Amino acid sequence: MDISGINYISKSDIKNKVILLRADLNLPIINGKVIDTLRLERILATIRFLITKNCKVVLISHLGRPGGQKNLDYSLSKILETLKSNLNILNIKFSNECIGDNALETINFTKFGELCLLENLRFYKEEELNDQNFAEKLARVGDIYVNDAFSCCHRNHASIVGIPKYLPSFAGIGLEKEIKNINEILEKPRRPLMVIIGGSKISTKLNTLNNIVKKAEVVAIGGAMANTFLAAKNIEIGGSLYEKNMKSNTIEILRTAEDNNCDVILPFDFLTSNNIKSGSKAQEFDIDKIPKDKMIFDIGKKSTSNIINKLRLCNSVVWNGPLGAFEYSPFDLSTNKISNEIAKLTLENKINSLAGGGDTVAALSKAKNSKNFSYLSTAGGAFLEWLEGKELPGISVLKNN
Ligand code: 3PG
Repeated sequence: MDISGINYISKSDIKNKVILLRADLNLPIINGKVIDTLRLERILATIRFLITKNCKVVLISHLGRPGGQKNLDYSLSKILETLKSNLNILNIKFSNECIGDNALETINFTKFGELCLLENLRFYKEEELNDQNFAEKLARVGDIYVNDAFSCCHRNHASIVGIPKYLPSFAGIGLEKEIKNINEILEKPRRPLMVIIGGSKISTKLNTLNNIVKKAEVVAIGGAMANTFLAAKNIEIGGSLYEKNMKSNTIEILRTAEDNNCDVILPFDFLTSNNIKSGSKAQEFDIDKIPKDKMIFDIGKKSTSNIINKLRLCNSVVWNGPLGAFEYSPFDLSTNKISNEIAKLTLENKINSLAGGGDTVAALSKAKNSKNFSYLSTAGGAFLEWLEGKELPGISVLKNN
């Protein structure tokens, strides 16, 4: 998408203002414990910048999908301690409302140079409905709006596109870095560009596939979605997962790729098993030799080496979606090996690498490579929509506002 005209907070000369900061504090929590803080780390630069400018920071976010109802399982109080320890600031006030008297009181008690956190925006159905009255109520407490939540920029929600109608609005430092990195590699990549797409369903990545075969020299496809491509070519895939009603779409994608001189790499050997459990007996088979009672859970060694060899000829790589059932060893093999190779090529400055998406971030962290790519986007839907070539409403609204 076109990123010209965006207002960046890093270029502003703000001081002593009340800032409404939209963050994505939708962090993974298991048994009450935050298990990954990458999204939090991405907003720290903006918070520190605003605090050094003696601004009062009012942090707003959603957590999960409580469906417009107050549900304390989704309370942002669950991430308060993690926020304090990551920022190394002990005094962060919390309001159990995001609008109303309690929120106003909390904001009034917060001094300039300090921050407070308001409760989950999605406790109100008005947030997801982009209700203007709700947006205006949120906006009323601040002088300036800053969005540092790239992963929410595809949402037409009140806190993303509504508030900027009422306040001067800027992209935060994390958002600035994210859009500049993604824009550089997708819009003006050092060519050749390889895009690796994995995951289970073509139906969720149809528009992405159709768009990227027009942009990249090489597209490597793995994960269960590769099975649908194989099934469409009448290749025996045993009992593997695939999408019957997507066969004709795969043919169309391959045709578009050919028209655009894009080389689509499909796997030709596989790691299979009778079931998906860690430690279950895995057997390798070449294409056309998969027994009817086996299921594909990862691409095979030869297909992995083929992708690695082609990667070495590329100058940029974008990756979304694991290539196998990476949660279960040994079906994480191809994902681990390819991520190790990209990490190595990145370190040697031979490739510019970008990865994004929830499962991709999890797979790279499992492979201990999440810090070894040129850039890792923590966004899921927003990253995919960018790959689809869509305008993200949360970013458009920050242009010349
Ligand atoms: C995400 O996790 O991708 C963002 O927090 C957006 O969440 P959503 O898909 O529930 O809007």
